[in-house]
Amino acid sequence: MYKRFFGLRESPFNVSPDPRYLFLTKQIEETLTALMYGIQTRKGILTLTGEVGTGKTTLINRVLDWLNQRAAKTAFLFNSRMNSSQLFDFVLAEFDIPCELRSKSQQLMKLNHWLLERYRAGETAVLILDEAQNLTFPVLEEIRLLTNLETSGEKLLQIVVSGQSELEEKLNLPQLRQFRQRIMIRCKTNHLTKEETHAYIVERLRIAGVGPSNQPIFSQAAMDTVHLYSLGVPRVVNLLCEHSLINAYVEHERPILPKTVEDIAHEFQLDVVEPTASPESLQTSAELYNSEAFIQNLGEALFRFRMFPQNPPLRGRK
Ligand SMILES: Nc1ncnc2c1ncn2[C@@H]1O[C@H](COP(=O)(O)OP(=O)(O)OP(=O)(O)O)[C@@H](O)[C@H]1O
Ligand SMILES: [Mg+2]
Repeated sequence: MYKRFFGLRESPFNVSPDPRYLFLTKQIEETLTALMYGIQTRKGILTLTGEVGTGKTTLINRVLDWLNQRAAKTAFLFNSRMNSSQLFDFVLAEFDIPCELRSKSQQLMKLNHWLLERYRAGETAVLILDEAQNLTFPVLEEIRLLTNLETSGEKLLQIVVSGQSELEEKLNLPQLRQFRQRIMIRCKTNHLTKEETHAYIVERLRIAGVGPSNQPIFSQAAMDTVHLYSLGVPRVVNLLCEHSLINAYVEHERPILPKTVEDIAHEFQLDVVEPTASPESLQTSAELYNSEAFIQNLGEALFRFRMFPQNPPLRGRK
């Protein structure tokens, strides 16, 4: 509804991981390169960890696009609430390996045979597990054992394990030391810096149709405020910017001012922890964003917004 007012072709701040909107910082580019290098050189297990909403799934989608262009075989699992036998069912199904057999050892033989054929054909097979922070110890142990499928010199199956910061903590537990030893490359997603947050907002607006000569949509101070309350978490940046666009459209406000962003932050309770720039408060707020309560608040606020799209009941609106 605000698109015409701001001269946009499409909504710039959708929270779906659309690869057209992929924003690359130097750090994100390095992470992508490391993942691609690890897969190409058949390293075995690679991990990708980072806080909620910092772009792990977005990067995985980019890697999947790249693998599909190279005609690699991929299996992408994001349902981490599975047991060991379901793991094998899912892996075979995702790789499209026909198998009537139900016993794990027979399934494993079938997978090994299929991987050897792929290897001889010069193809790469990649298993990607997203949301892996919820995987149980037995499932992680099965995944480790999958790296035993190898020729004398090379791994037959490349495995990318991606998950929130809890995954990192889990992998440091003594029970998983054998798994830990098999990790050949560890990658991370991080919060955006203030400058990166500005560039991220400008880039998304550009892709959505804003020309360089157009009057700015967000004032510099408003983008600073977005960074302050989002702490550079892209999903939260999107949320603040999307709702700021809606409210600014209602008020016919352009450029968007910091007060508009502040009201949205208040509405979504992002100001529960005072957004100061000190590292200690950053730490506390990052933990807040990881909490179930925070996700629930977001969900609840989004639900209210969907119920009252024209005039969401803004608790903090003055
Ligand atoms: N590098 C990026 N370029 C463009 N958009 C991004 C980027 N990183 C994140 N986003 C945006 O932020 C949203 C959240 O990112 P994503 O879902 O990839 O995070 P995540 O780390 O997988 O989160 P979770 O821990 O909840 O699974 C995406 O839908 C996308 O819109
Ligand atoms: Mg994700």
